[in-house]
Amino acid sequence: MSRFDSERDDLFHAINASIGFDRRLAPYDLLQSQAHARALHALGVLDDAELDAILGALEKIHQEVESGAFEYRAEDEDIHMAIERRLTEDLGELGGKLHTARSRNDQVATDLSLFVRAHSLACGDLTWQLMQTLLDKAIAHEGWRSPAYTHLQRAQPIYLSHYLLAYFWMFRRDLLRFRSAAQSASEMPAGSGALAGLNWDLDRDQMAATLGFTGPMQNSLDAVSSRDQALDLLSATAICSSHLSRLGSEIVIWSSSEFGYLSTDDSFASGSSIMPQKKNPDAAELLRGKAPRVAADLQALLGALHALPLGYSKDMQEDKEPLFDAVDTTETSLRVAARMMEGITFDRGRLEAAAEDRFLAATDLADVLTAEGVPFRAAHGIVGGLVRRALEEGRPFEEMYGEALSDLPPEARSRVEEAMSGRDVIDSKISAGGTGASRVAEQIAIAKQELEALQPSPRD
Ligand code: ARG
Repeated sequence: MSRFDSERDDLFHAINASIGFDRRLAPYDLLQSQAHARALHALGVLDDAELDAILGALEKIHQEVESGAFEYRAEDEDIHMAIERRLTEDLGELGGKLHTARSRNDQVATDLSLFVRAHSLACGDLTWQLMQTLLDKAIAHEGWRSPAYTHLQRAQPIYLSHYLLAYFWMFRRDLLRFRSAAQSASEMPAGSGALAGLNWDLDRDQMAATLGFTGPMQNSLDAVSSRDQALDLLSATAICSSHLSRLGSEIVIWSSSEFGYLSTDDSFASGSSIMPQKKNPDAAELLRGKAPRVAADLQALLGALHALPLGYSKDMQEDKEPLFDAVDTTETSLRVAARMMEGITFDRGRLEAAAEDRFLAATDLADVLTAEGVPFRAAHGIVGGLVRRALEEGRPFEEMYGEALSDLPPEARSRVEEAMSGRDVIDSKISAGGTGASRVAEQIAIAKQELEALQPSPRD
């Protein structure tokens, strides 16, 4: 008997079923079911023999899932129903007892929190690996000079280590975001029933401890209605992917013949089917190309949850595919970025030739003029005019410094000329966080400590 007169329409099943994708939650669902069976036993709902039988059957299903032998059937609506169906095949009526004191609403929210926690930590660990690779590269290239850009126009020279460490710090913030997403999945929804709580005083504290949660969620309605644990992970993946896209883009540009600053290992490039000379940086391009899709995954869940009234609505089933896609894409991209970065070789000659561009000293000349009392805006104008004439007349910029100084008294002119002639425009960047050699050395020391402090903790 059931409430329904007619068979479900196949098309209804097509839109309603989630078994095609939520099978991925099977290991979490089984873990949760073990803990739930123990809680039912503690309440006296299951006797000793029943608990043993259910735990044994769940273990068997776990092995079937692991080995690939588990049969997901098209008619199973979702992973929760599939596992219950299999349990009942094995245990008969007893299988149906496991759903006492729970609803798929708190069950799915709990599976999802377990998934979010596991993958937030995994993404954090992968980010840590990438940070380590970047730091190693920064250390290996200490003292190498490189141009740096604004608007992709040469702006000021810096140390290559400083460039690489910029990414180190960006990924450090990503790592912290991943760990914070794990935190937001740290309270357990289970034990909330459909939304109102249960007619049994299930030991939620015990169950939470068994499943590695810090404790149960405080409000049963919030527990079944909320998906912000998934939003937090999605948002961390979206931001991290955006950072990866910038790194990827930089690799594409820097490896072009026009720049020629670096080359990727052949194992991370492909050839062209028609042009024999080509070595294409496909992996780096894909780091760039995949970022918008991860951002769209975040947008998809924000959209599904927008203005949704409290309680469970089927819209919420749409949480899974974007989340899985974002996690898979980001985890792969992080692995690729670390491996590709490891194999990159930089061309010191090309980098340093570009960093030698004398126009890159223009800001410094303007700064030196301010030391002689010229207001910075005026100095900016004087030096700008000089650059323009150097370009028009095809003369070396540094030979024209004197002409910038025609309005200054003679002692001031010689001070400026002297300040500019022996000047290292990189090491002159002495401010904390700047690219001067001693600041970069300081930064490397702090980065090492930071990496050590953020070391992934061993997990099973
Ligand atoms: N497959 C569902 C989901 O992923 C499980 C929850 C179903 N709950 C319900 N009341 N229909 O969201």
